[in-house]
Amino acid sequence: MEKQVVIIGAGVSGLLACKYALNIGLNPIVFEAEERIGGVWSHTLESTRLQNTKEIYCFSDFPWPSSIKDTYPTHSQVMEYLEAYGQHFNLFPCIKFNSKVIGIDYVGESDEEMESWGLWGGTGKPFGSKGKWHVKVQDTKNCSIQVYHAEFVVLCIGQFSGLANIPAFLPNQGPEVFKGKAMHSESFSALDNLTAAELIKTKRVAIIGSHKTAADIAAECAKANGVKYPCTMIQRNARWFLPGDNLSGLLLGFLYFNRFAEMSVHKPGETFLLSFIAFLLSPLRWGISKFIETYLKWNLPLKKYGMLPKFSFFQGMSSCQIAMLPDKFYDRVEEGSIIIKNSRSFSFCQEGLIIDGETRPLETDVVIFATGFKGDEKLRNIFESPVFQNYIMGSPTAPVSLYRQILHPRIPRLAIIGYNENFSSLGHSEIKIVWLSHFFDGNIELPSIRDMEKEANMWADHIKQVTGRYYRRACISNSNIWYNDQLCKDMGYNPRRKKGLLADLFIPYAPTDYAGLATKSDSLATLPDSHFTRQQGQVAVYVAFNPSGNFNLPIYDEEEGKI
Ligand SMILES: Cc1cc2nc3c(=O)[nH]c(=O)nc-3n(C[C@H](O)[C@H](O)[C@H](O)COP(=O)(O)OP(=O)(O)OC[C@H]3O[C@@H](n4cnc5c(N)ncnc54)[C@H](O)[C@@H]3O)c2cc1C
Ligand SMILES: NC(=O)c1ccc[n+]([C@@H]2O[C@H](COP(=O)([O-])OP(=O)(O)OC[C@H]3O[C@@H](n4cnc5c(N)ncnc54)[C@H](OP(=O)(O)O)[C@@H]3O)[C@@H](O)[C@H]2O)c1
Repeated sequence: MEKQVVIIGAGVSGLLACKYALNIGLNPIVFEAEERIGGVWSHTLESTRLQNTKEIYCFSDFPWPSSIKDTYPTHSQVMEYLEAYGQHFNLFPCIKFNSKVIGIDYVGESDEEMESWGLWGGTGKPFGSKGKWHVKVQDTKNCSIQVYHAEFVVLCIGQFSGLANIPAFLPNQGPEVFKGKAMHSESFSALDNLTAAELIKTKRVAIIGSHKTAADIAAECAKANGVKYPCTMIQRNARWFLPGDNLSGLLLGFLYFNRFAEMSVHKPGETFLLSFIAFLLSPLRWGISKFIETYLKWNLPLKKYGMLPKFSFFQGMSSCQIAMLPDKFYDRVEEGSIIIKNSRSFSFCQEGLIIDGETRPLETDVVIFATGFKGDEKLRNIFESPVFQNYIMGSPTAPVSLYRQILHPRIPRLAIIGYNENFSSLGHSEIKIVWLSHFFDGNIELPSIRDMEKEANMWADHIKQVTGRYYRRACISNSNIWYNDQLCKDMGYNPRRKKGLLADLFIPYAPTDYAGLATKSDSLATLPDSHFTRQQGQVAVYVAFNPSGNFNLPIYDEEEGKI
């Protein structure tokens, strides 16, 4: 019987899941709510570009074309790269666009039966159970709904889209009383460049938030309006930003993303020796963090404008709270095109915003919430079963607890990819999916549910400890190599991926170090540059298509009530 795999989402993670599923002879179907691939990259601000170097954000077996010279490619270059990947591995025929999954339900085994299992999914295996996932898919064009049956579901729905985090306000103190326009950054990013530029042109814009999106929008407003219509960025906690130059990327790699750097931090499940080494190296770790903080304080007017974070650079790195500074950001602050206000709370009035501690309202035409997303709630909402919803939300004081950050010990035949934040999120998704393909192929044996829970909780505790109040984003950047080591061992590969001890200790790890871990060999991409001949900024739109109509899954027609 065919192993039916459904992948939800065609962003970076979904494309990877599809490629590796095809690799081992499966026939996956990918449901994508939008009409194109790329996820967050398919609708960004005009100024968005990669924050990590292209060597860090690349597929292990599909290099960036040599024509891309920028260290930090633009968003349209990233989209072209993803589309070329999809074409090269022939993924598009597997993708059903404009297909939003509005619910998934596991049918066939009762909650009590599942509760009594000692092994994941009853057997510890990915396929072959009597239970099936019912995947309810809405066609976003005509709103019709179909239910597909699958043996295994891979959730690749992303953390930073779909469910906006908008602050709650007391009655009559929220956007409803404001006579200007209030919107979330996701809606602003979804506008085409011209409409977005029109919206902010000659307007007084206030931006809520202090992380990457807030700073980018502030920079775009300042560029459009100058000092005549300054924009105001309202932050409750300052963040560390790095200048977006080549040196920053290089330095970060050598100071934080090599094996030696990881030896200076405590890792979940480490031996006594490793723990002792981390203790011995902790002054070095502290010194590096202080050195970078001192450099940034000396180089940027952080104190003058209230942009000095209250946490160390190291803590910022460990919780994925470091971002790249937009071009000329502090020049715009110095000239007065960007005004920074520190405030823990605010409310709306007709003319704009009432900021805590200020006597007069901030008169504003447009308010943009760059306040992030509720990634964990979006994940929860896709499950129809309240029991599974509770498993996902888990404890309100811990991140979602996943075995190897991939499988929930008590949710059968489902994998979650892309939930953890990481500085190299593409490579992180790829190694997880490679692990999953080994599991699909029968090369990985799972321990008992109890042991899976132990491992998942150990990582959840670690994440909580190192990421502080940002724990729900499950950043694992400070133990990334350690995490990859574990997956390599599960798959039977040597985790030391570099030639020579010194290289393995000091050269930063990148996705290409993990090339060749797939279960069935797949030829290394040797794409000629002619595959990348589209003009920069010109991005093809792949609309829903499947010429054969051959999505090989049983369909349950809800209206007609039959399979
Ligand atoms: C503006 C921005 C810039 C970023 N820049 C970087 C960077 O420079 N470096 C870095 O490492 N990371 C960056 N990130 C993090 C980024 O999220 C990851 O790099 C990566 O692109 C995430 O891919 P993903 O496939 O896991 O999720 P997403 O890109 O979010 O893709 C999820 C896909 O699932 C689809 N989907 C969601 N729900 C459903 C549903 N119910 N039914 C059907 N389809 C659904 C969505 O439409 C989307 O296409 C950035 C994030 C943002 C928001
Ligand atoms: N490559 C790129 O150029 C690029 C561009 C944009 C985004 N990104 C990535 O996309 C991800 C999301 O970034 P993001 O900036 O959109 O979201 P984010 O990282 O979640 O930041 C949200 C911001 O909103 C603030 N905030 C949240 N709730 C608030 C409230 N109730 N009142 C006031 N402030 C509130 C947060 O402050 P606190 O810190 O105080 O909670 C924080 O400053 C990140 O991984 C980022 O690196 C990348």
